[in-house]
Parts: sequence; structure tokens; C-alpha cells
Amino acid sequence: MRVFVILPAAGLGTRMAAGHSTAAPKQFLELAGVPILIHALRAFEQISEVKELYVAVRATEKERLAAQIAEYGLAKKVRVVEGGDTRQESVSNALHSLDCEEDDIVLVHDAVRPLIEPGIIYRVIEAVERHGAAIVGLPAVDTIKQVERTADGAIITATIPREYIVQAQTPQGFRCGLLKRAFAEAAQDEFAGTDEASLVERAGAQVAVIAGSASNIKITQPGDLELAEFYLSRRAV
Ligand code: C5P
Repeated sequence: MRVFVILPAAGLGTRMAAGHSTAAPKQFLELAGVPILIHALRAFEQISEVKELYVAVRATEKERLAAQIAEYGLAKKVRVVEGGDTRQESVSNALHSLDCEEDDIVLVHDAVRPLIEPGIIYRVIEAVERHGAAIVGLPAVDTIKQVERTADGAIITATIPREYIVQAQTPQGFRCGLLKRAFAEAAQDEFAGTDEASLVERAGAQVAVIAGSASNIKITQPGDLELAEFYLSRRAV
């Protein structure tokens, strides 16, 4: 069994840009002196079963990525593929260039989640070996409301019992054959999902959920970098 890793990193980071003067998308910003994407790559490098890492970036960011990889000296082979207009397209491009067997495992991880811990990656791999598909999910602590958008905000249409709710994080892991079939079906039906599990679910497969961690944050908006720095400093103690 081989494990391949895909890091979609072709987002524009527009929600982040509001609070930062830099032109770099968030995945290239530094967290404690190391680019966010390099933090994520390093976590997966530590997993001995990981054979290859694929990073999807915009054509305009390829040089920046190559420079960062050269500077931070990653031991494993990193293949750079062209990102698409959506996260799904970026992952699909990487999947197309990935030469895997049916039972190999593919892990997809947001490039903007730099604090993923190797222990969680191992638990996802184990769950994929048992179930064929598994993601990291964080149990909801807030009460969850379904709403209908209105001109001046929203009104509640339902309250969803929170014991049934987890927030999907990454990594999301799958047998390679299953993931490729799910992506092919989604492309055929023009289905757009915001994560890989949604494509695999609609392909009829069961996806297991393992417990996530609050520190596995997705750096999305101003303030998230400071929060990530706080979690990182706590880890170092
Ligand atoms: O936009 P969002 O926060 O959902 O992005 C999640 C991950 O998907 C990020 O790592 C981002 O760089 C990536 N992405 C991508 N291609 C896109 C949009 C997002 O690879 N077109």
C-alpha cells in the first residue's frame, strides 16, 4: 500500500488579503518564519508510507513554490501541478497526473492547514484501510441553525441537533480507485462539492469520520495567523 498526498494550494486567498498588505496568497505567508504550505508539507513528509506529494498551484505561483521548496529542503519528491478555478478542479488536476493502484491511498489536505499533526494523519490512514474512505471531523460545540437568507440578514428555518454535526476538516483520505471514480462521476454530472468526501458520498460509498483537533485550523481570514502562532507556541512548550 502506498500513500499519495495532494495539497490544493491554488486559492487566491481573497478573504485573507483584506488584512494583509502582501500580494502572496495565504498559503505562501509565513507562520513562525516558515511558509504555511511548507509547514503542511513537512507534516506529511514525516509519514513513512507517503511516497509522493502533489501540490496544485496557479501558474503564476509555480516559481514562488519552487523557491520555497528549494529554500526549506524537503526530502520527499514534490510534484507541482496546475491548479484550477475551484478547489475541486485543482484536486482533479492532481488526481489525473497521479499514477496509482486501486488500493493505494490518497490523502487530500488543505495547504492552508499548517498545524496538522502526524498522529491525526496516521489515524486517517488507518481508517481508510478499514473503511475505504475517512475524513477528519470536529464535533460541533455550538447549537446549529439552518437559515434562509433575507435581504437584511437571515431567519432560522430549523435547528439541527448538534450531536449529528461535525465540521469537515482535512486530511480526507480515500482508496485511489474510489476517489478517481467519484471525481469522474462528479465531472460527468457537473456536480460541484467543496470537499472530496461530498463527491465520494454521492458515489455511494460510506465515509468514516475520525476526531479532529481544534488546532488544525484553516487559515482563512485575518486573525487566523495569530491564532495559528498561538497554537504553535503552545506545542513547542
Ligand atoms: O478556498 P478554501 O479556503 O476552501 O481553500 C481550501 C484549499 O483549497 C486551500 O488550500 C486553497 O489554496 C485550495 N484551493 C485550490 N484551488 C482553488 C481554490 C482553493 O487549490 N481554485
